[in-house]
Amino acid sequence: MRIEDQKILAALPDLGVDRKPGASLAEITYLGIGGTTDLLRMKKHESIPDVLNLLDAGGIPFKFLGGGSNLLVADGELPWVVVQLAQPDPDVVIEGNFAMVDASAELGRMVTFCAKRDLGGMEGLIGVPGTVGGALRMNAGAYGIQIGTYVREVKVYRAAGRTIEVLKGDQISFEYRHTSFAPDDMMLAVKLELPSKPFREILQGIRICNEKRRASQPLGQKSAGCIFKNPPGASAGRMIDELGLKGLSVGDARVSDRHANFFVNAGTASAEDMLALIADVRERVRKAYGFELENEVVVWNA
Ligand code: EPU
Repeated sequence: MRIEDQKILAALPDLGVDRKPGASLAEITYLGIGGTTDLLRMKKHESIPDVLNLLDAGGIPFKFLGGGSNLLVADGELPWVVVQLAQPDPDVVIEGNFAMVDASAELGRMVTFCAKRDLGGMEGLIGVPGTVGGALRMNAGAYGIQIGTYVREVKVYRAAGRTIEVLKGDQISFEYRHTSFAPDDMMLAVKLELPSKPFREILQGIRICNEKRRASQPLGQKSAGCIFKNPPGASAGRMIDELGLKGLSVGDARVSDRHANFFVNAGTASAEDMLALIADVRERVRKAYGFELENEVVVWNA
């Protein structure tokens, strides 16, 4: 979707918005799939309510984008614009055991930045791609660690009331790959409380997690990480593997040979290809095991 209303276009720069017309979501997302639309990068948190009110008044639907690492976007010209936070400098500020982090900060870089200041706890998250905002929204986790454990405050734009609010950690529930945020809440910043730990020790933990990840996940390929959540007490990857589905393809969408819950874009897969592969694998697992696998990847249909 292209913004054509001249009044809106004229107002955007003063509101701290940098517009990239006709941006390709295939170039932004880790899966390398997705159509085109206007991308609005917001440089000022304070003006977000005004920008979004302006879009509403102009009848322009929008979606919030984090780092694009856990996202499957529809093909073609998309019927909404995409709003994303621009990265401030610095994007992490440390005060004692607290880290104040902008939602646009890259998760892995933030973990390393804190580690260098002897703040640990998040070693398992080092290889998880994406932004801190995206990790927060879905309570990203790996190797027994979830980001929610360390959250003390979240600054969030709440689309429902069109206001920016600061929520305390205990006002938010963090569960396995799920939080109590509304689907249209936009993460702006977070305050984390991290345990003190010597850098060397943290580095050791990071190395172990990196090795495990390299051994079990297709890191060099285009993917959105795990496609399905693990059902309680079971492993989606193991079930898909046991069914012999590694390598199963629809077009260039393919079940990874390395980890069966990673579906990769082996070339120029379309969203349609990937969705067909997801539906096919879900159905086979349902028939064989009786589990209805739930998407872990977020799907933006047109
Ligand atoms: N397994 C297989 N075949 C496979 C893949 C896995 O037999 O192709 C087996 C493994 O041998 C292991 C079990 O299944 O016994 C679990 O596999 P793994 O340790 O790789 O963990 P996972 O449950 O598949 C979860 C997260 C990952 C995270 C890892 C490491 C989910 C859906 N996935 O994977 O997160 O990196 O643990 O902690 O919770 C993601 O969220 O996108 C993601 C990749």
